[in-house]
Amino acid sequence: MNRIFVRQFLRHPRAVSTPFEIWPSLADKMASNIEGKLVVEWGSGLGAITLPILRQLPEEGELYCFDTDREFCEELRDKTRDDPRITVYNSDAQEMYFFLGMGKVPDTIVCSVPFQMIKRKERGALLRLAAQSPLFMPMQYYLPIFDGKPPRMMRVHKRYFKEVQWNPIPVKDHFPPAGYYLCRNNHD
Ligand SMILES: C[S@@+](CC[C@H](N)C(=O)[O-])C[C@H]1O[C@@H](n2cnc3c(N)ncnc32)[C@H](O)[C@@H]1O
Repeated sequence: MNRIFVRQFLRHPRAVSTPFEIWPSLADKMASNIEGKLVVEWGSGLGAITLPILRQLPEEGELYCFDTDREFCEELRDKTRDDPRITVYNSDAQEMYFFLGMGKVPDTIVCSVPFQMIKRKERGALLRLAAQSPLFMPMQYYLPIFDGKPPRMMRVHKRYFKEVQWNPIPVKDHFPPAGYYLCRNNHD
């Protein structure tokens, strides 16, 4: 367990949501699904998904990360300082277009902001933003007792996206159990 991550979880339990960083089993899968050259990550933390994304991102690609936790942002900037493709903003993901500019729509948005912990209004605002992109990829923790059934957030995502696919990671490969959605809108 990472000391900084656990400390920030104890300080801000709702925003960070667990004392565990996302495991490579999930992070690598999410990163392998990114599409396009303009990628945004919401809730980048210490970079558990960010670094795999950078490994997949084309040389001419751009990655913009948003996290409300200042210490996480400082650490992540430090870890990635030699890579000109990444910019880390210590800001709420809701401010994305303020930083990107209105004309710049991300090809993919990767997200580990804990939707089950934040206010409904905040979640709705984020999903409305996400729905402007062709691919939104949020991760989610789930209870494996509902064998095979997608988590309840599936219904919420379906209000904003035409196509939603739930991809759980096998329970033995991730703790707490987690998976990710591929949510697509066709903007043609
Ligand atoms: C579950 S942690 C995931 C961290 C990291 N991606 C990982 O894989 O270990 C959730 C992260 O979302 C950030 N966060 C929560 N609400 C946010 C918001 N509205 N905008 C941006 N980041 C947010 C937290 O600070 C935290 O770093």
